[in-house]
Amino acid sequence: MTVGWGFVGTGGIARTVATALELVPGGRLVAVASRTAERAAAFGAEFGDATGYDDVSAMLAHPGLDAVYIATPHPQHHAAARAALLAGVPVLVEKPLTATLAAAEDLVALARERGVFCMEAWWTRFLPGTQALLDVLASGAVGDVRSVHADLGFVPEESATRFWDPAIGGGSLLDLGPYPVGLAHLLLGAPDRVQAVGTLTERGVDRQVAMALGWASGAVAALSTTIAAQASGRAWIEATGGWIEVDAPLPALPRFTVHTSAGEQVHEHAVAHGHRFMLEHVHTCLEQGLTESPLVLLERSLEVARTFEAVLDQVGAVRHHELGDA
Ligand SMILES: NC(=O)c1ccc[n+]([C@@H]2O[C@H](COP(=O)([O-])OP(=O)(O)OC[C@H]3O[C@@H](n4cnc5c(N)ncnc54)[C@H](OP(=O)(O)O)[C@@H]3O)[C@@H](O)[C@H]2O)c1
Repeated sequence: MTVGWGFVGTGGIARTVATALELVPGGRLVAVASRTAERAAAFGAEFGDATGYDDVSAMLAHPGLDAVYIATPHPQHHAAARAALLAGVPVLVEKPLTATLAAAEDLVALARERGVFCMEAWWTRFLPGTQALLDVLASGAVGDVRSVHADLGFVPEESATRFWDPAIGGGSLLDLGPYPVGLAHLLLGAPDRVQAVGTLTERGVDRQVAMALGWASGAVAALSTTIAAQASGRAWIEATGGWIEVDAPLPALPRFTVHTSAGEQVHEHAVAHGHRFMLEHVHTCLEQGLTESPLVLLERSLEVARTFEAVLDQVGAVRHHELGDA
């Protein structure tokens, strides 16, 4: 199957995913939308002679456009994804799906109403390392998961405005949280309780967040995100018959070690251009006519958005209200 992709945004992750797309059979970048025609044209020329647009709506009418990938800052995901869904174009939206729960609910409702494919680009789910981890857990080798510990963080340059500016999704949780929180949700489902403490920057976005999640089953998770410290970027999964240490960087899940009474077993799964697995999955979904991914369900994205909303409310972070721009 050939899939003609249109990208919205020409920043860091757009570049990474465009490079990965070149390795995906049948995938081709055919159009790019940017805030400026010059950047769109330059990005399009660099990745396969794609047509540049300075307007998302115009790009959505591009002949041969089969799917759109949204790679703008989080508060800007909603409008572009909404436009794609209204135009009936399948859409892959960078993580987090949106910057607020209300916007996530709006997108998911629209995707379901229109029956158009929509998926959050939680690329980690499609990596060989993640599948191997799930296989180990499903084998019963370590028993039942009772707790998850994970952290992720670094100290961005002051010039990396996306991390500091509330208008473009500043703060640690929405940017880094999809990985530790996503892992806890993947292994244990949606939590029944969420408690958080955090510190804010002068502009009111979350600088550091520590989260305690609880499940009715008795399982717990201790998770943190930070833009104030170099964090380990690791995770520890503790289960009734052993524990698993996931090495850094958690988003790429390159390696994990299973510890049981029988000893240690190391699983190596480092891959280059790992976003290609996510793109291949989207191609398969489109080929099969699916309106959502069976692996990154829209419901799952809503559950994670609910956790983020609860955490950001509790730490008092400034919120960017995408709906109505309040
Ligand atoms: N999956 C992953 O591995 C991964 C990694 C990093 C980031 N992300 C996610 O991807 C998204 C983008 O992150 P990034 O690191 O690529 O950011 P970035 O380098 O700042 O790029 C974002 C791009 O969005 C466009 N844009 C549209 N409206 C904008 C606005 N109001 N302000 C600034 N830029 C705007 C810009 O392209 P034009 O100038 O061409 O319009 C900009 O280059 C975020 O939601 C982030 O969470 C995912």
